[in-house]
Amino acid sequence: MTSDEIRETFLAFFEKHAHKRQRSGSLVPAAFDPSVLLTTAGMHPLKAYFMGLEAPPAPRLTSCQKCFRTPDIDNVGVTARHLTFFEMLGNFSIGDYFKQGAVEFAWDLTLNGFGFKPEDVWATVFEGDPAMGIGPDEEAIEAWLSVGVPRERIVLCPASENFWWSGETGPCGPCSELYLDRGVEWGEPDDLPGGENERFLEFWNLVFMQFDQDEQKQLTPLPNQNIDTGMGLNRMAVILQDVETIFDTDQFLPLIALGRELATVAEPEDRSLRILADHSRGMTFLIADGVVPSNEDRGYVLRRLMRRAIQHGRRLGITGSFLPRYVDVVLDTMGAAYPELHAEKDRILKWVLAEEEGFGRTLEQGMALLTDHLSKGTLDAAAAFQLHDTFGFPVEMTIEVAEEAGVTVDEAGFKTLMDEQRLRSAGGVGGKGGRVGGTADLVRGLSTEPTTFVGYESLEQHTTVAAVTERDGKTFVKLAESPFYAQGGGQVSDAGTIACDGGDCEARVADVLRAGDDQALEVELVTGTLKEGERVTATVDRTARHAIAANHTATHLLHAALRQTLGDHVSQAGSYVGPDKLRFDFNHTQRLTDAERAQVEDQINAWVLGNHPVRSMSTTLDEARALGAMALFGEKYGDVVRMVEVGDGSFSRELCGGTHVRSTAEIGLVKILSEGSSAANVRRIEAITGPAAVTLLREHDAALSGAATALRTQPAGVVDAITALQAKAKAAAKAGGGTDAGTVDRLAATATDTDGIAVVAASVDGVGGKDLAELTDHVRGKLGDDGVAVLGSAVDGKVALVVAAGPGAIARGVKAGAVVKVAAQVVGGGGGGKDSMAQAGGRDPGKLADALDAARAAIQAALA
Ligand code: ALA
Repeated sequence: MTSDEIRETFLAFFEKHAHKRQRSGSLVPAAFDPSVLLTTAGMHPLKAYFMGLEAPPAPRLTSCQKCFRTPDIDNVGVTARHLTFFEMLGNFSIGDYFKQGAVEFAWDLTLNGFGFKPEDVWATVFEGDPAMGIGPDEEAIEAWLSVGVPRERIVLCPASENFWWSGETGPCGPCSELYLDRGVEWGEPDDLPGGENERFLEFWNLVFMQFDQDEQKQLTPLPNQNIDTGMGLNRMAVILQDVETIFDTDQFLPLIALGRELATVAEPEDRSLRILADHSRGMTFLIADGVVPSNEDRGYVLRRLMRRAIQHGRRLGITGSFLPRYVDVVLDTMGAAYPELHAEKDRILKWVLAEEEGFGRTLEQGMALLTDHLSKGTLDAAAAFQLHDTFGFPVEMTIEVAEEAGVTVDEAGFKTLMDEQRLRSAGGVGGKGGRVGGTADLVRGLSTEPTTFVGYESLEQHTTVAAVTERDGKTFVKLAESPFYAQGGGQVSDAGTIACDGGDCEARVADVLRAGDDQALEVELVTGTLKEGERVTATVDRTARHAIAANHTATHLLHAALRQTLGDHVSQAGSYVGPDKLRFDFNHTQRLTDAERAQVEDQINAWVLGNHPVRSMSTTLDEARALGAMALFGEKYGDVVRMVEVGDGSFSRELCGGTHVRSTAEIGLVKILSEGSSAANVRRIEAITGPAAVTLLREHDAALSGAATALRTQPAGVVDAITALQAKAKAAAKAGGGTDAGTVDRLAATATDTDGIAVVAASVDGVGGKDLAELTDHVRGKLGDDGVAVLGSAVDGKVALVVAAGPGAIARGVKAGAVVKVAAQVVGGGGGGKDSMAQAGGRDPGKLADALDAARAAIQAALA
């Protein structure tokens, strides 16, 4: 039976028995389920049904769910059956049939659908646990007896085997597992199901989902008695295809064969071949579901998978780019069952290539360093940290390689260094005023009656002071109704005033604190005092609010224009919307070209001029999704959502709680200020609108006129005049040294894009000391804020190295001092300096090219 046939046999069987077939949910769990990072079981997308929070589409459901189990990464290729990504078949009953029904279905399909012999099938059931207050599962035993399983093939097991939890909290229950006895030739006569042995293979888990576990690990009964079952499709294939390991089944054979084809070592290790087969599936499916490689959460899981695969590719002697070849085979084997793989193919290839290029550049050097340490028999925390920080080695990978060499890594020490770095880059702890944690308590503590937000409709509201309190010398007020927007979704809080009816008091709104949909105001009294029950008029600062609204709508237009210009892979990674400007972070690998940037700006301004109406509406999350509305990855949305659409909605529809202009023409004008890199694979655009944009253009005009006057020409002649001046200066410099504009231009032109940072690493002839520093600085200047220049020169049998890093590059973690150190080591020297500029010397001019390569690698690694 092929894997496709196993899948269809299962789903068709349950469909025949009145189960509604569900499409697989995403590997990224719904935002309202914070209990897991990735979907690890078929029931995860159905959790809200089990908990009674939502009505299921039918009481009986069946699905084949994409699953990913991160803890199994290390087991892949070591055991016969562990995978990270796999498919789980399941049938589910939401308050419909219970243990008896689940057992009858399972027995029927096992014998009549999959053709197992009844005498080979065993069942385990929960033996009970006094500490949990639960006795042996007699009901399950009775059910198995009733279908004809003899008592001696029903085995009692403890909670570790036969109780299943969907996460730290949430639905859980006792379970009963089905095992196939493969015969005594696979083990010992006294082997039993429930342990780890090769004779008894577990193939199906029936969970009797009847409890909800809270944070204190207390169990309370769920509203219904439910059934959740899970059958690993790939394990079933091992049995039905009668093979020894999961990697010998039909979904994996082509991937193993590809590894053998690409490998150049004499004896390719099975483990590496298997790791590549598993990890390439995992990365393909994760990217298809929207995960992007990064250093946090799911992005880190993906990155770790990719880097481990790249490392094992090298072990097999595979040279050059190879992950795209694997992606192709994954699409061939899985694309029919999962059409999203084809739909997302471009995006998958893009991220796979980006990671391969990025990590490929530092892998060799990192491995050399690691091997060097290991040959000395130790690997301290500082070395593990350097491998992570400079060469992009996931620490788990370092630990694994070290373990293979019998060396242990100081993990605790590594964690301390990581924490220190996090603190450094966060610039200390705590948010605005250090009260972030207490905001919700403060807001709700003021009064339990939530404030009604009326700021979508009105900017002025006659209302009542519901509560007042003083804390840390500050005054906080809660209004019955408030027109003030509380910071959220990237948009800053409104400014404004509160005035008492009699005119005897006035306060300025300093901040609006949000706690869910509720809010409180931090106010500064100008005259009088505010008392509970006082009637007041609350007024939003109109000018600021209008500027904010224009910037917010412009942010949506920018998002839409970026997707049209660069592709649908562009997704929002963060934003700031204030009265002064807007900032938009998005996932994309490269710098925008001048043409792309112009196209984006033109498109936005065309929409502005089109005077399209901007409308907000309440709808359901499903409806919004069906309409193609963009939702923020990882954001929590309730059932009822607010959707903002521009024009007919064909180019911009987003879930958004912010305030917007009524029509795009109110924005007036959008001007992009800058485009740069804010993190690996994240670009940042800043822009201004309306009066701020006009002011800026006027300033540019003034600067140009000033320049024209100074050059004694007209504005249109400024460029020619400067070119002529530069030619003159160049001629003068030629007589002098080698730091002329021509050399700077020539060097700057060799820049390559590394993760959004322009990098020049080059050698120059016979320029030393101050001249080299000056030249490096000029080249860096030419590259812009996101640039790094590394110049090396051999002078009098010695090596001089200079590194200059722009502020954008420094913000991304590139430190000139650290880079120069790495390069200097290669030429047998040392040096250092500031983050922005550093110099070093060395003794071995023959290694200058290697030193420049090392500098490049160090930059690349710092960015990763
Ligand atoms: N949810 C159960 C499991 O994953 C069926 O084993």
